[in-house]
Order: sequence, then C-alpha cells, then structure tokens
Amino acid sequence: MAVRAELAVIGGSGLYALLDGVEHVVDTPYGEPSGPITVAEVGGRRVAFLPRHGRDHRYPPHLIPYRANLWALRSLGVRQVLAPCAVGGLRPELGPGTFVVPDQLIDRTSGRTQTYYDRGAVHVSFADPYCPAGRRTLLDTAAGRGVPAVDGGTVVVVEGPRFSTRAESRWFTSMGGTIVNMTGHPEAVLARELALCYTSIALVTDLDAGVEAGESVTHEEVFRVFAENTDRLRGLLLDAVAALPAERECPCGSALDGIKLPFPLP
Ligand code: ADE
Repeated sequence: MAVRAELAVIGGSGLYALLDGVEHVVDTPYGEPSGPITVAEVGGRRVAFLPRHGRDHRYPPHLIPYRANLWALRSLGVRQVLAPCAVGGLRPELGPGTFVVPDQLIDRTSGRTQTYYDRGAVHVSFADPYCPAGRRTLLDTAAGRGVPAVDGGTVVVVEGPRFSTRAESRWFTSMGGTIVNMTGHPEAVLARELALCYTSIALVTDLDAGVEAGESVTHEEVFRVFAENTDRLRGLLLDAVAALPAERECPCGSALDGIKLPFPLP
C-alpha cells in the first residue's frame, strides 16, 4: 500500500529527528528532497517528518531543495505543514529561547527558485503567508503547555549563508522586521503554490547584529541555544500536530481555486 501522511513537520537547524517511524525515499520532478521522509502516527494522525537541511545538515539554506521537499510531502497526501526554524531576534525583548509564531514575512533572498509555475498564469495570493488555523493551534498548544510564545511578528528572510551586517540588521528592524532567518522563503510560498497550510514556529537563538552591541551572532551560539530548547520544541510540535484541525476550514486549501494549472498536482 502507498505511504500516506496528512500532516508534516519540516525540521530546521538542530531538529533532525522527531518521530520513530518508517523511512521513505521519495523522488519528485524537482529531484530528491533533503532526505528520507519518516512517517509515523501521532495522536491518531499520520505525520511525516523531513529535516530541511538533511539529517547530516548537508544543505545550507540557499541550497535546500525547497521545491522537491514540498512536492514530496504533498505527494504523500500531506496538506498541513508545521515549520520550526531558528531565527535571530531583531528587537531586544526577543532574546534567545523566545518562541514566535510569525504572521508576516519579508523576502530578502536572491537567486532562489521560488515558484513551481514557470508556465502559464498562476499568481497565488500571499498577503497572509501563514495558515491562520495552524497559527491558532500552535499558540493554543504553547499556552496549554506553559510555553510562552509571541503571537505574530514579521520574519525577514535573508539569503545567507552569512549573517547580516549591523547596518542591514538595523534596517530590517526599522522596516518592521521582528525576527530574521535564512529558510522561511521560498518554503512558505511554495507551500501556498501547492495549496498546503503552512505554519512557522520560530525559536530565537540569538539577538541579531544590529541589536546586540557585543560580538554579534555566531554559528556556535545558534546551534547551542537550539539544542538547549529542542525538548521544549519537540513537545510543542507533537502536541500541535495532534491538535491541528482534521478538516481544513482556512483559506489555504482554496489557494488555487479558479486558476488553470499547467500540470496536475500530486
Ligand atoms: N538563524 C538564526 N539566527 C539567525 C540570524 N541572526 N540571522 C539569520 N538567520 C538566523
């Protein structure tokens, strides 16, 4: 029987495993995803887990096979995606260890393929990049577990792999950014282009260069703070997947309604 899953978690830096389940190698028209996809049952739901950077962190943010990842998940039946990620804080009150459930995104990446639709006229709405039902579920789940989580915020997604200069970082804050990372785009828009629900849960691992007067963010700090918070994040994600609504009533599933697609979706 073909493997099926309804929900997925795409693990970020420091979250390379989440479920004990069966591993599946999935191929796509966009090449191989970042790695095998683990499928298991959690709280009565079939859940897929895919480490965004690969299990051995082989893919840096700008080389992640984003299209293959989302396509592979949809081909398994996935319709709702939770996307944890490490971020830098762009405001002093958002220190390391803070969870943020963002509601907006600013794309500062360059040179990444950010669409499936190189043919035809497919223009999805992206005014609200994250699933409202997924955001509500994550916030309620966090509250239920006693994990403080900030409701809303704007993620600035930079190209990386370098961190930002102090001037860039101050500019991001001044233009309304709340947090900064390197993987939030094009993942969010590709999910929308496949009519998937996509919800980000960001863990602040550092204060970005424009906020921190001292040495500024380092690779070591990002991974250390992530590791310190992995258990809290795991618990939150596992409770949230079980709590996500089984029937989608949000607008995400209708993202392609009325649009003539150049090819069928899996
Ligand atoms: N990921 C974690 N911290 C970051 C930062 N300060 N800038 C960009 N991406 C990050």
